[in-house]
Amino acid sequence: MARFYCRWRTVLVCVCTPCISLVLLFAYVAVMLCLHDCTTAPRPIHFVAPGTFSNQSFGPLPKTFWELRQHGDTIWNRLQLTIDRQFNVILRPNNIERGSDNDTSYESLRMQGFSEATNLDNMRKNFDQLPQQLQEFVSHMHRRDYPTLIQPDGVCGAGARDEREAPLLLLAIKSTKRNFTNRQAIRQTWGQAGWRKGKGGEGGGYVRRVFLLGKGREKNVGVRSSKLLQMESERYGDILQWDFRDTFFNLTLKDVLFWSWFSHSCNRTLFVFKGDNDVFVNTPRMMTYLQDQLKKPQAHKTIEDFMIGDVIVAALPNRANQSKYFIPDSFYKGRYPPYAGGGGVVYSGLLTKRLHHMSKRVHLFPIDDVYVGMCMVRLNARVVHHPAFLTFDFPNREEEEELCSYHTILLVHKRSPTQVVKLWADMKVTQALCWDAPLREANLKDNTTTV
Ligand SMILES: *[C@@H]1O[C@H](CO)[C@@H](O)[C@H](O)[C@H]1NC(C)=O
Ligand SMILES: *[C@@H]1O[C@H](CO)[C@@H](O)[C@H](O)[C@H]1NC(C)=O
Ligand SMILES: *[C@@H]1O[C@H](CO)[C@@H](O)[C@H](O)[C@H]1NC(C)=O
Ligand SMILES: *[C@@H]1O[C@H](CO)[C@@H](O)[C@H](O)[C@H]1NC(C)=O
Ligand SMILES: *[C@@H]1O[C@H](CO)[C@@H](O)[C@H](O)[C@H]1NC(C)=O
Ligand SMILES: *[C@@H]1O[C@H](CO)[C@@H](O)[C@H](O)[C@H]1NC(C)=O
Repeated sequence: MARFYCRWRTVLVCVCTPCISLVLLFAYVAVMLCLHDCTTAPRPIHFVAPGTFSNQSFGPLPKTFWELRQHGDTIWNRLQLTIDRQFNVILRPNNIERGSDNDTSYESLRMQGFSEATNLDNMRKNFDQLPQQLQEFVSHMHRRDYPTLIQPDGVCGAGARDEREAPLLLLAIKSTKRNFTNRQAIRQTWGQAGWRKGKGGEGGGYVRRVFLLGKGREKNVGVRSSKLLQMESERYGDILQWDFRDTFFNLTLKDVLFWSWFSHSCNRTLFVFKGDNDVFVNTPRMMTYLQDQLKKPQAHKTIEDFMIGDVIVAALPNRANQSKYFIPDSFYKGRYPPYAGGGGVVYSGLLTKRLHHMSKRVHLFPIDDVYVGMCMVRLNARVVHHPAFLTFDFPNREEEEELCSYHTILLVHKRSPTQVVKLWADMKVTQALCWDAPLREANLKDNTTTV
């Protein structure tokens, strides 16, 4: 009996061990093939990042997870690696739950990366090669504690009085001191605060408005212009200004500081629009669209991740040194995560609060909309493309000149203050005719060309 059992055991060991090894090998190969395929499969590309002029500028995607490590000695990647490691679920499973979740601990974590990095020769060499503007950015990128100079009286932006329910939409608009005419045009048109009606006069909700400003570009700004802005704030109650220079590379500070302000002063608001002061927004349509999202089944779950805009996928940093988007590979390597073009994007109040928390773990990046994408991937949230966000304008003149064209969009970039005022008036005129026009869809253009 014992011998019989023993023989069977030998057979089992001889036959099954190779079998199991083969199965494991097969599984390994399958996983690797899938990884390879998944990363190289064509992805939907809505638009190439500004400045990457042809599809030829797309390099190969990293083939494996480990290749990401090779980006280690570029400035941003290296700094971020210190933080990402700290929160890596596999390396430090306990960290997710750790109690030291306060601003001081995050700040010291961000500073830790800096002290590590400045000791590396490679990093110093990379820094010396950066264009002057980026050097300026890097030398201040650890700072985000800029005080507020002007803010709406206690509450969240213009329109906060007399509200009987949570505001539906907060319009947060990036502006500069000099763009007063843009602000005036917006106040009179698509940015009117208070109770607003939805599409075709149906439904409605409370809208609030706030302009996001820095300190003016010049080093010694005039006292007179600060006085004017102060007066503007007293009159309209929609100015939120911080004490940092209002430059292109400082725009990310507007996101980070806005999220913080929102989380403390505006946190009941259901949705946020964040965009430029040279866009036209179809606010009534936007409100109806957002209310429809709230009515969907599972809305309470999906709204936590809700972000829509004109999504740019798999973009490479702009390597043309004359461009204002120029990011050399000594600063950042790899593709950008999917992100919504900064001309205008809409996300939920719940997501805003999550972005606020996540932003503490992500080093500032000089391009603001890419930075939002970087926070989104770390939240495991996906930004959804909506073809009615025309951050690169209508594809052609004919489409723009159709009677109801502006009723089919949610946003278009760019429009001057004069154009904004005229468009708003025109839309009032065509409202009765066009109230039923559907929003633009992805294949609208393809359909018309194949007919
Ligand atoms: C890439 O660009 C070339 C011209 O530069 C064009 O002929 C080709 O069709 C493009 N490929 C894709 C996939 O868009
Ligand atoms: C923040 O967390 C650190 C631990 O990382 C702790 O030493 C410090 O006291 C905390 N600060 C506050 C204000 O809670
Ligand atoms: C906003 O102001 C800047 C000057 O600060 C000006 O160059 C720009 O044209 C203005 N934008 C618009 C859309 O008028
Ligand atoms: C951002 O603002 C800070 C504070 O005013 C300033 O010191 C810094 O130079 C600015 N950064 C850039 C890149 O302009
Ligand atoms: C939410 O906003 C209100 C003011 O609107 C504020 O009193 C409250 O502290 C905020 N909540 C949090 C968690 O910051
Ligand atoms: C931009 O790049 C070109 C070559 O690619 C170089 O000749 C030129 O000096 C660079 N300009 C600046 C301002 O770095």
